[in-house]
Parts: sequence; C-alpha cells; structure tokens
Amino acid sequence: MEQYIIRGGRPLKGEVTISGAKNAALGILAAAVMTDEDVIIENLPDVRDINVMLEAITEISAKVDRMDRHTVRINGSTISDVAVDDEYIRRIRASYYFIGALLGKYRHASVPLPGGCNIGSRPIDQHIKGFKALGAEVRIEAGSVIAKADRLHSAHIYFDVVSVGATINVMLASVMAEGQTIIENAAKEPHIVDVANFLNSMGANIRGAGTDTIRIKGVQKLHGTEYAIIPDQIEAGTFMCMAAATRGDILIKNVIPKHLEAITAKLIEMGNEVEEYDEAVRVIGAETQRHTDIKTLPYPGFPTDMQPQISVALSLAEGTSMVTESIFENRFKYVDELARMGGNIKVEGNVAVIDGIDGFSGATVTSPDLRAGAALCIAALAADGYSTIEEVGYIQRGYEIFDEKITALGGLIKLVDSEQEAARFKLRVVG
Ligand code: EPZ
Repeated sequence: MEQYIIRGGRPLKGEVTISGAKNAALGILAAAVMTDEDVIIENLPDVRDINVMLEAITEISAKVDRMDRHTVRINGSTISDVAVDDEYIRRIRASYYFIGALLGKYRHASVPLPGGCNIGSRPIDQHIKGFKALGAEVRIEAGSVIAKADRLHSAHIYFDVVSVGATINVMLASVMAEGQTIIENAAKEPHIVDVANFLNSMGANIRGAGTDTIRIKGVQKLHGTEYAIIPDQIEAGTFMCMAAATRGDILIKNVIPKHLEAITAKLIEMGNEVEEYDEAVRVIGAETQRHTDIKTLPYPGFPTDMQPQISVALSLAEGTSMVTESIFENRFKYVDELARMGGNIKVEGNVAVIDGIDGFSGATVTSPDLRAGAALCIAALAADGYSTIEEVGYIQRGYEIFDEKITALGGLIKLVDSEQEAARFKLRVVG
C-alpha cells in the first residue's frame, strides 16, 4: 500500500503553483455533457477524483479526448445512456451531478445514491427537493435515484441548508427548464460561481451566482465552449498552513487572493505575515504564533475543508484555541492520529479544544479522509524525525503531485510502496 515517508523539522521555502479547483471541475465536467457540441476545459487538476469523473463520462458514451494532463475535450452528442454505473458513485460522490446534468438535458437520469463518507452522513434531500420543484418525479429504486420529467418548469426553491452540491445540481437541472428558476439560500463558494460562469459560456442565463439568490432563465439548448477552471482555494490554503506550521516562507502562485481572505485573516491573527499580490500570496511563518478561535461556515466564512489544516497550525501556536466544525458532524477523526505525534486536542461534540505544544514528534499515522490526510502531512513536515503517512490515496484524490510540490519547497517526502523503498529514502536523508 503506498505511503508517504516524511522527514520533518525543516522550514519549507520557495514557490508553489496551485492547480485547478477540484470542486469546481467536478461540477463543470458534469455540465460539459449538456451540449452536443465540443467543450474544451483547461486547467483541470490531474487528481484521482477528476480522472474517475472522466471515466464516468466515457461510461455513458460521451466522447472524452484528454488533450494533455490539464486539458480535455468533451462531446455529449453520443450519450446513449442516462444511467451512471454504481462503481462511479462509490468512488466519488460528485457523480451525483449527473442527476442534474442528465435530467436537465434528457429529462431523465438514474444515478446510484451516494453513500456517506468519513466526514458525515451527507444526505441529498435538498438536491431531490430542487428536482421535484422543477417538475421531476424522483424515486429511490434499488439504491439509485431515478429522476424523470415530461417537462421541467420554473420554480422558486428555498434550501433548508446551504449546500454546495444541491446548489450546483439544481443549477444544472434548471438551465434548460421553461421559465425562470430562483434558488434562495444558495451556496456562494467560488466553485459555484465557476460552474455558473461555465454554463453561461455555453449559452445559459444564470445571474446572482456568488450571492444567496441565484436566478436561472431557461434556454432552449447549450452550445460548445472553451473554459479554464479557477485555481483551487483549498490547495492554496493547505500550502499557506504548511508555511505557518513549518515556520517557512512560501510564495503560493496562481491563486485568487479574495478566495483566501478567511484563511489569510486567521493566519495573520496567529501572528504570521501574509503578503497579497495580484495572483499570489506569500506566507512567512512566525517563530512564535498565537492561539485563535475558528468556526467553519459556508463561504465567505472559514472553509470546513481547511479545518484540519488550520488545527495543525494551531497545535503549534501558544495557548488554547477552539475550533468549531459547524458543517459536518464527523470531521475530527484526524485528532487521534495527531495525538500519536504529540498533539494535545480534546473533542467535545463539534468543538475541538487545542492546547498548543512545542512541537510534534514523527510517528506512523493513517489518513482518515482527504483534507485530514493533507493536515497530517503538514504535521509530519513540522515534526521532529520521521513519519509514515498511510492511506495516501485519499490525499491523491484532491492534491496534484503533492509530494513533488513539497519536495520543490525543500520538504523531505517520498511516496513509497515497500519497506525497502522507505529504508532507502531514510538512508538517503539520514541525519
Ligand atoms: C462540497 O460537498 C465539497 N465537495 C466538500 O469538499 C465540501 O466540504 C462541502 O461542499 C462544503 O463546502 C465537492 O464539492 C465535491 P454540502 P457537498 O452539500 O456538496 C448538508 C473536499 O474535501 N446537506 O455543501 O456534499 C450536509 O450534510 C470535500 O473537497 C444536507 O443536509 O457539501 C452538510 O452538513 C469534502 N442535505 C452541509 O449540508 C443535502 O441535500 C453542507 O454540505 C445536502 C447537504
């Protein structure tokens, strides 16, 4: 089983370039099949979730031409099936975007119900509420969501919870519905705006994405387009926390600083230096950092996908910090792993109380999910001695060449899949 071996204790310094946003790309790839013309998508992150989504698109017989690692041409004219295979939903939840895309284009979709995952139960009741409001009949049969509509009409939908997935899925289902659909209490994440901009570049008529009220005027059909995905704010935030935790100095390039404001504000509160440029941020980790409190919220609040990473940086700050996870019910599983490295965090319900420590010591730890895995790597890079990170497949779902980017910053990390390889790496970086 592949692992990362990390020798910690060195400040990370240098430059890193951020890849395209995974969570924007997943919605955009589903939307791409909604036209029968060629769609070219650039700045795709080359990560497992994206590659699984492209396999799923091929599976329903759309044409997929990977022009290079970060560019794909898709043509949905040859789609012969509105049923997505169970394998794809089991591997990535975002396959559920095919419900909105296929329902929106063909008035029919059948997609396996996504399971829960390590961070919570993750229901899709708001997605289904939206589809029904548009006039679809939705039923659960043999573990799949089957949505069908003779016609899709305008609706005024008020989401009971702010949901990124439901906002994107209902946008997809309504772009070719009759009349105007209004979504209230919509999610405002940058990736919602990116999906809306992509659909508008295909001829859709979506206004208000990025606010809590989105208006979609149905159009007859969508045409081809060429589009580049926005940079990944969570990958950028991960490297910002890496600079803080290792007391390093990293210039993080190809970012939209506005998308990082909540993370920047907290790192500055902790005493770090953050310099903003047009398309980059520089984080200089302070030797002594202060505790602060975090509450995860929908954008523009502090992102839940950055909660494990900032908790690692807070573990290395002076004093006691409180981190409240208000989005998912089970997103502190990494705390037990951090304890093996000397972390001192107590979890009560959805609040983690973090007592700062002088430093982590290397240990063997297991990634419980994607962002927690990245956070454990940050802790290992700051730790004294060697660490082994297991279940790195989670990390590779959302971070492109994570080990190579860390190595380029002076980090000592190696992807290995045998004890011998691990030993050889340790010999090479002995001392
Ligand atoms: C997206 O998940 C992201 N995934 C998640 O990123 C991210 O953590 C999350 O948004 C919040 O920002 C993708 O975009 C592929 P939600 P999603 O619907 O859409 C509840 C990562 O690390 N809810 O915004 O599934 C839900 O239980 C991943 O890249 C309902 O109750 O999240 C949760 O408590 C992890 N009913 C809250 O809303 C619904 O129908 C927010 O979930 C839908 C959601």
